Amino acid sequence: MDKILITGATGNVGLSTVRLLLDQQDLNYEVLAAVRNVESAKKMDGLGKAHLVNFEFDEPATYAAALKGVKKVLLIRPNQVSDVSKHIFPFLDQVEKSEVEHLVFVSIVGAERSRIFANHRIETHLKKMNIPHTIVRPSLYMQNLITLHGQEIRQNDRIYIPAGAGMVNYIDARDVARVVVELLTKPGHAGKEYDITGQEPMDFYRIASLFSRELGREIKYARPLTIKFIRKEMNEKKGMPFIVTLSLLYGAARNGKMGHISNVFKELTGTEPRNLEDFIHEYRHSWMK
Ligand SMILES: NC(=O)c1ccc[n+]([C@@H]2O[C@H](COP(=O)([O-])OP(=O)(O)OC[C@H]3O[C@@H](n4cnc5c(N)ncnc54)[C@H](OP(=O)(O)O)[C@@H]3O)[C@@H](O)[C@H]2O)c1
Repeated sequence: MDKILITGATGNVGLSTVRLLLDQQDLNYEVLAAVRNVESAKKMDGLGKAHLVNFEFDEPATYAAALKGVKKVLLIRPNQVSDVSKHIFPFLDQVEKSEVEHLVFVSIVGAERSRIFANHRIETHLKKMNIPHTIVRPSLYMQNLITLHGQEIRQNDRIYIPAGAGMVNYIDARDVARVVVELLTKPGHAGKEYDITGQEPMDFYRIASLFSRELGREIKYARPLTIKFIRKEMNEKKGMPFIVTLSLLYGAARNGKMGHISNVFKELTGTEPRNLEDFIHEYRHSWMK
């Protein structure tokens, strides 16, 4: 049976993609989850049923086994991998030489406009290669409000994001995975580029009020200056490329570039994407004291 290779398979979008693919009754592909640690991945909910293969972008020796028999690839660049010419391009070279017929790349909102994004460099490189591909550019993931900003909300009752009064149209990473599954399993998407957003842009004052209502205590929007945000992230020993990327994204929000609505999710899936209020309700335990 032909295979679909999912990179980043333990992460936000990759894990949901594996789960959705495995739930499909009539899937004509074997699902191959590319992971750095097979033993710990086996214990993850949903991954145990997938075929697991050892894979690291920075270990080219792992590429050949992962790509054997693979016809479709989901490419997710881990945030930690910023030197893409060293760690992603060699993988794409191998994909180009393989039997892969279609690759879906999860980029990020605005990456086409800003050279500074690592995902921009991947997009540009892919366009020069002979790999049929689709580029997806999601807006920010709702999951960031747990993984990146959850501690501030839980401990200090505040959202610490330098987005001014700008809007963000958050999307649930599980909905990005729904789009990815469509693109990987249905024909006609090669050569296309899709923005995916949620259904309602909001500023962080409104988002803070949604948290306050759900959690039953006041959550404030701190509205820090970018420089203060950068200092805080540096004190927490976050990597510089990641801090720069986050600051650029929130700067774009501040400048009114993150508030648009795309209908791609509805066009491809026939349903509305999840909304932020329901997400906060579903994961309320993440921000409880
Ligand atoms: N967060 C957002 O708001 C947002 C929005 C749009 C697009 N994006 C883009 O989404 C991407 C991140 O995706 P995500 O949030 O789904 O992932 P994620 O949750 O951050 O997880 C990263 C995944 O990559 C794996 N990984 C880390 N280092 C690796 C390496 N050297 N070789 C192979 N695999 C490695 C991790 O595996 P382990 O379990 O082994 O660590 C994990 O499966 C970024 O390119 C980002 O720009 C993010």
